[in-house]
Amino acid sequence: MTAGATRTSIPAVVLGATGYVGGEFLRLLALHPVFELRAAVSDSQAGRSIGNWFPHLACAYAEHNFVAHEDWLDAVNEGEDLALFSAAPHGASAGIIKAAIDAAASKNINIHVVDASADFRYGAEADFAAVYGIAHGAPELLPVFSSGLPEHVSGTPTPHVGHPGCFATAVLLAAVPLLKAKLVDSELFVTGITGSTGSGRVPQAGTHHPERQSNLYAYKALQHRHAPEIVALANAASGTQATLNFVPHSGPFARGIYVTLQCRASAGSTIADLHEAFAAAYDDAAFIELVEGTPRLKNVVASNRCQIGVALEQNAIVVTSAIDNLVKGAAGGAVQWMNRLWNLPETDGLSAPAPGWT
Ligand SMILES: NC(=O)c1ccc[n+]([C@@H]2O[C@H](COP(=O)([O-])OP(=O)(O)OC[C@H]3O[C@@H](n4cnc5c(N)ncnc54)[C@H](OP(=O)(O)O)[C@@H]3O)[C@@H](O)[C@H]2O)c1
Repeated sequence: MTAGATRTSIPAVVLGATGYVGGEFLRLLALHPVFELRAAVSDSQAGRSIGNWFPHLACAYAEHNFVAHEDWLDAVNEGEDLALFSAAPHGASAGIIKAAIDAAASKNINIHVVDASADFRYGAEADFAAVYGIAHGAPELLPVFSSGLPEHVSGTPTPHVGHPGCFATAVLLAAVPLLKAKLVDSELFVTGITGSTGSGRVPQAGTHHPERQSNLYAYKALQHRHAPEIVALANAASGTQATLNFVPHSGPFARGIYVTLQCRASAGSTIADLHEAFAAAYDDAAFIELVEGTPRLKNVVASNRCQIGVALEQNAIVVTSAIDNLVKGAAGGAVQWMNRLWNLPETDGLSAPAPGWT
């Protein structure tokens, strides 16, 4: 790996580029100082203009068309480096990543992959199959992938990374410092509210505008498929055996995740202890902001930032956290990991504050 400080350009390819997360990869890469988009991969839009599909990105990609899976390799030269992002659906992502890694090897391309899908969040093939009900698409790659948040993992344990996902990002950022410092009982109760982009670009009854606007409802209470991977990642990051009672909600907004975590304080824990634990965990974390009171979605939406608030009354603890599902919870968090994998400053391309009024 070449040191980031000397790099001016690293080719980047985005799989699943026509989706909501794919579009955010393209938007973030348009302003990234080092990663240079070589191919935005889509079978449905191959040969068509990025600007037509994503009119808000036309200014950045006037001359750029989507390319089909079989063609992206032509955009990367023999022996070059490659930052490969996948925003393909779970189940499909692992297989196309495997094909991409093999294709890269055929041209002696040095590749790092960050996958936004759920395919590389579990280390064991059986755990993935048990939750998703399908066989893993590339089990031979599991040893070269790991999952976790850059804020909770030191260094680069593997050459490739599976992003933990949007609900997981908001929950892990709220829970791990308290679990790690052993300030709380191990049973966590979490309410998470997500915007409609969390379900992807294909319309469904539950994400349709008349259903969601001016509306708020829980769904899959205690049954959400991401809960087991959230708790596995929380335990791996904190060295504890926590349990999670997770109730997701559908919120009447397009983007953002708002999480409220409730738990019991361990005997003797004080609010000062809680603040100290969060400060110790995130003092050096560029994207995490501890706020007085509670966070607001508008302070983080469309940015890679997370705001966290903490409260304690007697032995009851409440931690609130807010992120953007498509940025910190997917494409931004993936770019953050990719920066680290290429030894670039972790904030490269991600330092824009939230617009505030979306
Ligand atoms: N939305 C979120 O907030 C969020 C947050 C964290 C993680 N994620 C994960 O990120 C991934 C993308 O989510 P999204 O919301 O952007 O979904 P999406 O809007 O449905 O987009 C998925 C994209 O993947 C491509 N695709 C579909 N089937 C494919 C296949 N069999 N092989 C290769 N590509 C295929 C499609 O492009 P073409 O049909 O044009 O080829 C589509 O544009 C998912 O794995 C999701 O779980 C999403």
